[in-house]
Amino acid sequence: MANFPIKRLRRLRYNPLIRDMVRETELSKNDFIYPLFVVPGDNVKKEVKSMPGVYQLSIDNLIKECKEVSSLGIPAVILFGIPKHKDEKGSEAYDPDGIIQRAVRAIKSEVKNLLVITDVCMCEYTSHGHCGLLKGEEILNDETVELLAKESLTHAQAGADIIAPSDMMDGRVAAIRKTLDENGFEKIPIMSYAAKYSSGYYGPFRDAAESAPAFGDRRSHQMDIANAYEALREVESDIEEGADIVMVKPAGPYLDIIRRVKDKFGMPTAAYQVSGEYAMIKAAGKNGWIDEERVMIESLTAIKRAGADMFLTYFAKDAARWIDKNRK
Ligand code: PBG
Ligand code: ZN
Repeated sequence: MANFPIKRLRRLRYNPLIRDMVRETELSKNDFIYPLFVVPGDNVKKEVKSMPGVYQLSIDNLIKECKEVSSLGIPAVILFGIPKHKDEKGSEAYDPDGIIQRAVRAIKSEVKNLLVITDVCMCEYTSHGHCGLLKGEEILNDETVELLAKESLTHAQAGADIIAPSDMMDGRVAAIRKTLDENGFEKIPIMSYAAKYSSGYYGPFRDAAESAPAFGDRRSHQMDIANAYEALREVESDIEEGADIVMVKPAGPYLDIIRRVKDKFGMPTAAYQVSGEYAMIKAAGKNGWIDEERVMIESLTAIKRAGADMFLTYFAKDAARWIDKNRK
């Protein structure tokens, strides 16, 4: 530094009160979205092996969980469903009495003050675990988009507050917007998984949602991990099609993408700290190799510093408790 000793950056670091005063980024519970996995049955609470502290819940237990989430001051949950029956066409995804549709109705009637976001995709519901209809080994785009619009409509009819398509088919945001609007749901926002990478970090989620593909992978629709300009094109087209909130996923390994998306479009931007990011921090924490709480807060702060306005994170409850403990 040229003007040392006049300039001393450490002056603002000696006292914790000063450090608090100059801090640029603060986590807020307002920004947390907690992912939950719903399964058929009664009184089910089954921990996901690769995700300590995360459970598959039947609707009765889901309600209890949502009450706790809301009482912690977390404003939103996002729901993933594991259906009773999977078939080639993922029929339960768009069944008005499917697992998600029933779960949304139950939460909306029993839990106050909680936004219910629904993930829209086919992979949890298809027998082959792919995100859409197949023709041979190809995932069909336009035929899948029709079903995603149908799925979204049943979610809205059940009372979902925000619809979140995670499939990465082309044109799905426009189709969902059109279907919602034609059916009187013009006030329901769409949070699109706009830049979703074909990532190794989704491994534990596929245990939780029982949605691993039976053959092949998701590279024909999810993005190549090496591409950034393409992410901007993906986000731009979702905005043009009517997305209200755009998401980057995963979060931690893609902070550069979050920053570029936020700077370029200035849209409400969400980031998904995915299952693998959570699992790595949990596992190293359990082994005593890192300080789990510290790294949790550091990872979330980094995502916010990069430009995310809100995050989907399996740490939402832990981080909310941390905020209660550490903030005036
Ligand atoms: C469904 C979907 C996935 C995730 C969210 N929605 C899995 C996938 O694309 O295979 C991943 C979330 C996580 O890893 O926490 N399309
Ligand atoms: Zn999918």
